[in-house]
Amino acid sequence: MKDFIFQNTDRVYFGKNALDYLGAEIKKYGKRVLLVYGGGSIKKNGLYDAVVNAVKAEGLKLFELSGVEPNPRHTTANKGAMICKKNKIDVVLAVGGGSTIDCAKGVAAAAVTKSGEVWDLVKTYTWVGKALPVIAVLTNAATGSEMDEWAVISNMDTNEKIGLGGDALIPKAAFENPEYSYTLPEYQTACGAFDIFNHVLDNYYLAGEDSFDLITEFQEAVMRAVVKWAPVAMKEPENYEARANLMWASSMALNGILDAGTLHNCACHAMEHELSAYYDITHGHGLAIVAPRWLTYILDEKTAPQIYRFGVKVFGLKEGMEEFEGAKAAIKALETFCFETLGLKKNLSDLGIDETHFKAMAEHACRGSAITGPKTLTPADVEEIYKMCL
Ligand code: NZQ
Ligand code: ZN
Repeated sequence: MKDFIFQNTDRVYFGKNALDYLGAEIKKYGKRVLLVYGGGSIKKNGLYDAVVNAVKAEGLKLFELSGVEPNPRHTTANKGAMICKKNKIDVVLAVGGGSTIDCAKGVAAAAVTKSGEVWDLVKTYTWVGKALPVIAVLTNAATGSEMDEWAVISNMDTNEKIGLGGDALIPKAAFENPEYSYTLPEYQTACGAFDIFNHVLDNYYLAGEDSFDLITEFQEAVMRAVVKWAPVAMKEPENYEARANLMWASSMALNGILDAGTLHNCACHAMEHELSAYYDITHGHGLAIVAPRWLTYILDEKTAPQIYRFGVKVFGLKEGMEEFEGAKAAIKALETFCFETLGLKKNLSDLGIDETHFKAMAEHACRGSAITGPKTLTPADVEEIYKMCL
């Protein structure tokens, strides 16, 4: 394993009464609050009213940025930053899924810069050390943004979708009441679940030559939880146990704990972000299409034992198979999970995507060099994987 430093300063309030603490928590950071939310799901499920009441009960002054898009745009974050500057906002409160939280982080970072333009930070890969405090109320178990240091921002003018990172982007507090994910549509539940799964899978093989058994076991436990509870949540959207398991799995997958001692890397994520940058597809669905093809592409004598172990530990394959056969069975089990259990469409062509931009997307995904990981992928490799997804 590698040496590591671990710190995560997010305070998580988890459970049915989490919002009872919201007003007091926000107040620690100031009185002028920008509430950021998406297309209106929080108005339909009552969360908007609950949040506004909690904020007002503490005598805080509320401003709003609504209409954050799935795959949040830099232009929306800029709009929020302007509101912050104009109204001397103290704290940014995100209420929604990963897109809303990411946009709020973009707002918080841009608001303390001279230009107020988030893309100035994103395009220069600036590590954000200074931002307004962000507080997140989570409604979708998926991205881990509620506990991590990343905000993924899209620029649709240039077909770019890039992660903005920084210590200052870790939310000061996250509020996770699984009940607020009851209204999540089945498709988003499936996509979110696969996003969680893939955050772990992307990092699973990277402890290096010396393994780190505890972390590998943690990772497998999180993936197993997704395999077990995602279908339950899809069938019974109001199953608290299922929603709670997925929500905490979302936070665990990217809060740094499962990265310990590994070389965090993200081959599928690098490839998927290009798909959503060019075609505005749902992130988790893109990942589900790419992941089994990626494993098929990297399968060789060196990777076969690890891929087979994944099949045994996560999907319950029997032990004792020949390693190559076992690895193929593991990939088959992953495909069954993605395309049958989660019911996601299997091919990029099903989403209206053809080869037109594969070359440019592959080059972007490799950021001018290659994607490292269990197997280094050049732009030519990435293009090949995209073709396998057609
Ligand atoms: O817009 P609203 O009304 O909020 O509706 C959303 C949206 O239409 C809806 N939704 C969310 N919670 C709901 C709900 N509808 C009913 N009831 C609820 N409780 O679901 C739709 C999708 O929401 P979105 O926030 O886009 O989904 P998700 O949480 O999957 O976030 C995806 C974004 O996060 C990025 C993705 O690339 C994508 O842009 N990621 C962020 C990461 C991070 N910050 O660390 C890492 C991830 O790998 C990922 O890249
Ligand atoms: Zn993801």
